[in-house]
Amino acid sequence: MLMNKTETALVNSPPRRWLQRFYETQVLLRFGGRLLPEARALEIGCGSGYGTQLVLERFGAGSVDAVDLDPAMIERASRRLAHHRDRVRLAQGSATDLRAALNADDGGYDAVFDFAIVHHIPDWRAAIAEVARVLTPGGRFYFEEVTAHALARPIYQRLFDHPTEDRFTAEQFLDELAHHGLVVLGSVTRIRGDYLLGVAAKPVLAGSDG
Ligand SMILES: C[S@@+](CC[C@H](N)C(=O)[O-])C[C@H]1O[C@@H](n2cnc3c(N)ncnc32)[C@H](O)[C@@H]1O
Repeated sequence: MLMNKTETALVNSPPRRWLQRFYETQVLLRFGGRLLPEARALEIGCGSGYGTQLVLERFGAGSVDAVDLDPAMIERASRRLAHHRDRVRLAQGSATDLRAALNADDGGYDAVFDFAIVHHIPDWRAAIAEVARVLTPGGRFYFEEVTAHALARPIYQRLFDHPTEDRFTAEQFLDELAHHGLVVLGSVTRIRGDYLLGVAAKPVLAGSDG
């Protein structure tokens, strides 16, 4: 589901950018660490491309593919990331079908980033299944999410548009990761039951050379 005007303004505001750069990125780096210089990363729901810029500059990815459902966001991201053109591929499409959006193969990415996007997707389980599918064994899923608890708050209900059914608690989100074989590294940061941040890895299978 696309953001409304209020959420678009808030998500792209200086305070949110500050939080993303100086809080969310620090927490995710603490759990998951930096990537190798040749790492191929994917950002789902890239919005205006600020997260993609952080994935390149702060997480150290070699290249980033980024997808968003909203063509207007892809347009904004392509302006922001013009100076990284040789390392970024942008596509309009859904995180629930990364084959259609990016022709993404199984195991094609070393890391996937979710900066507050899965709660926008009605079939959020399909998005998690896609994350697990496209991660290479040993690859990492960096997530920052908003729970049903937050979405039920009057401020969220009044100001923003989100799917109203089948929203997830922190436990349901983490259970879905486990259902797809993703293992949380260390612990998860939870903020009042409203937000969760963490990193989960796709295990390397015994006998594989990954
Ligand atoms: C809250 S915004 C977060 C944007 C960006 N990650 C950030 O932190 O600034 C959610 C984004 O998810 C996108 N989105 C919603 N449903 C999507 C889907 N099914 N697939 C990909 N992107 C989607 C929206 O267009 C929007 O840009």
